[in-house]
Amino acid sequence: MKCTIDIKALRELLKQWRRAGESVAFVPTMGNLHAGHLQLVNKAKGQADRVVVSIFVNPTQFGAGEDFSLYPRTEHADQEKLQGVGVDVVFMPSVEEMYPVNELTKVSVSQVSENHCGAARPGHFDGVATVVCKLLNIVQPDKAFFGEKDFQQLTVINAMVADLNLPVDIVSVPTVRESDGLAMSSRNAYLTTEQREQAAQLYLSLCVAAALIQNKKLAYSDIEKQQIEFLAEQGFEPDYFSICKRKDLLAANKEDTEIVILVAARIGKTRLIDNIQVDIEN
Ligand code: PAF
Repeated sequence: MKCTIDIKALRELLKQWRRAGESVAFVPTMGNLHAGHLQLVNKAKGQADRVVVSIFVNPTQFGAGEDFSLYPRTEHADQEKLQGVGVDVVFMPSVEEMYPVNELTKVSVSQVSENHCGAARPGHFDGVATVVCKLLNIVQPDKAFFGEKDFQQLTVINAMVADLNLPVDIVSVPTVRESDGLAMSSRNAYLTTEQREQAAQLYLSLCVAAALIQNKKLAYSDIEKQQIEFLAEQGFEPDYFSICKRKDLLAANKEDTEIVILVAARIGKTRLIDNIQVDIEN
C-alpha cells in the first residue's frame, strides 16, 4: 500500500492505472477508521480494480466552537487497518496541500443543505460539498463510496454530482451498527461508559418511530414529538427528529412512500446523528 500527502504524486499513480485500463474506486474519510469505514472499503474493492482512500480532517466543515482541533487523529492505526484490507493508496494531504491559497470558490448545494444538520451547523454542508468536489476532481474515480449514516451528506453529494455533471457513480453503503444498534461513528469515542449505554436509545427511538409510521395511526408530527420527549427522558438533548421524504428531505406526509427518519441529539458534549429508511406500501 502506498501513502502519499501530495496531489501531484497521487495523480501520477492514477494516470498509470488508467493507462493500464484499471478502474478506480474512492473512499473519502476523515480518519479514525472503524468497521463502518472498512465496510465502505470492502464494497469499493468489490467494484473496481484499484481503491484509493483519503484521510483528511477537513477544517471547512467544522463551525466555530466545534470539535475540529479535538477530532481524533489516529493516522498510524488507520494506515494499518487500510493495509489489512488491501487498499492500494492512502491520500493524506495537509490542510496547506488542500487549501494552498485563500480560495474564492465554494460549492454550495441549496435546499437539501439547509434544514436538519444544515440548520444546526451553518456552513457545514458547504464545507463538505467543497472538499468532496475537490477530492473527486483530484482522484477522478469511477465510483465513490459514502455511508448512509450521514444521510443528509449523501443527499447533498448526490445533488452536487448530478447538478455539476461530475463523471462519477456515487455508491451508498448501509450503516454499520454496534450490537446494541448504535451506529458506528468516530464521535462515539467521546462518550463515557454511561453515555455509551444511553446512546443505544437513539436507534431504538428510530425503530419505534418506523413501527409507528407503518402502523399508520398517529400523525407524523405526533410521532416526532413523542420521540423527542422519549430522547429527552433518556438524558439526550434532542436537536431534531424529522420524518422526511427521502428524495428532498422535506417533511413527509401520509401519501409519501419513500421515507427517511433523521435524528440528531446531544449526550453531554457529543452530538450523535442517525437515521432509518422506511418504505410504505399504500
Ligand atoms: O463523512 C465524512 O467523513 C466527511 O464528511 C467527508 C465525506 C470525508 C468529507 O470531509
